[in-house]
Amino acid sequence: MGLKEWIAEPAADQLSAKRTRAAWLREAAARLTTPLLPDDYLHLVNPLWSARELRGRIVEVRAETATSATIVIKPGWGFDFDYEPGQYIGIGLHVDGRWHWRSYSLTSPPGREGKRISIAVKAMPEGFLSSHLVNGVPSGTIVRLAAPTGNFALPDPPPSKVLFVTAGSGITPIMSMLRTMARRGAASDIVHVHSAPVADDVMFADELATLGTRLPGFRSHVQLTRSQGKLDPAAITELVPDWRERRVWACGPLALLDELEAYWTNAGLAGSLHLERFAVSRADTSGQGGTVTFAKSGKTVTIDGATTLLEAGEGAGALLPFGCRMGICQTCVVPITSGHAIDLRSGKQHAEGERVQTCISSAAGDCTLDA
Ligand SMILES: Cc1cc2nc3c(=O)[nH]c(=O)nc-3n(C[C@H](O)[C@H](O)[C@H](O)COP(=O)(O)OP(=O)(O)OC[C@H]3O[C@@H](n4cnc5c(N)ncnc54)[C@H](O)[C@@H]3O)c2cc1C
Ligand code: FES
Repeated sequence: MGLKEWIAEPAADQLSAKRTRAAWLREAAARLTTPLLPDDYLHLVNPLWSARELRGRIVEVRAETATSATIVIKPGWGFDFDYEPGQYIGIGLHVDGRWHWRSYSLTSPPGREGKRISIAVKAMPEGFLSSHLVNGVPSGTIVRLAAPTGNFALPDPPPSKVLFVTAGSGITPIMSMLRTMARRGAASDIVHVHSAPVADDVMFADELATLGTRLPGFRSHVQLTRSQGKLDPAAITELVPDWRERRVWACGPLALLDELEAYWTNAGLAGSLHLERFAVSRADTSGQGGTVTFAKSGKTVTIDGATTLLEAGEGAGALLPFGCRMGICQTCVVPITSGHAIDLRSGKQHAEGERVQTCISSAAGDCTLDA
């Protein structure tokens, strides 16, 4: 192992694949303070200093609508501000005695200016962490962060003709793209079609209304679905007659994204359509549940068939890798060493010797994972 790899090893799973200077220094600290100086010592000096994990402090919670809020976070040492507009972060909060992780798109433009990042969260009905973030989290809370990632990103320079299609909280990654284009003085011709049930539900409404002054090529259409009807591909292509000439980024409910995908594919334009899904569609299936053993950590937990193996591991205190938490990125894949697991999207069973995506799989009887 070379010196650089030896230094990097202790913090390797927490850090961005891009090796920034700050990340390298952070890794060096992790190695140099292991095992002589515990991480908690750094934490005592400043809660944002950690050589082993990315951390941040919530510095502002700002209401966007009655059910959504922008959360401004000051990341600690080692965070890579050089992310791509449209990417998401993982955020972990300690609530009711355990860490809960979710993914949220960054709404801030990249860059170290202000050394702040932001996300915007819509409280899901009965949603545990989204409700806590919108209605309950106090400023000053220390959170864990997973480095920005994701392929739903705006290239630099952006294309000359762009169409953004968003609905509800799906506007969040597009806000980062729009703010980045405004900051960089992009000359693109941009149409943004957004939908929400009523005017009071439109996140960033004031900013959208005035964005044209900072971004001259920007036009926005907001469709209020309760009075103006549903936003579907037919409505969008009627609103934007030159849709075939535009690169498209779309984010919103699964049904809308599936319709767009079919429409653009039929038109032979699948390559110009970029989609971001916030949720995974589960088949009408669940595992039978069982006792899951995480061999590396020695933790064991009994779960029902709707709980994912990733959630089970986190609940039991086993350290499992994860990225998107929705079956896309493959970061969470681990081998099954005994028993069976079931993929909650397809109902497909995986047996001993196979590898399983823990974020979208549950137990089909007792099983052991090499994790
Ligand atoms: C890449 C990515 C980016 C995301 N960006 C954002 C963002 O910018 N803003 C934002 O508000 N959310 C975003 N999400 C969704 C977010 O990660 C959470 O899933 C969401 O906030 C709900 O979490 P919860 O703890 O409140 O719900 P939970 O308590 O985990 O779930 C409550 C119920 O809602 C269902 N559910 C969970 N999430 C969704 C969903 N998104 N759509 C439909 N049903 C769901 C669950 O199956 C469950 O039945 C993103 C997700 C991904 C994968
Ligand atoms: S965390 Fe991305 S596929 Fe499981």
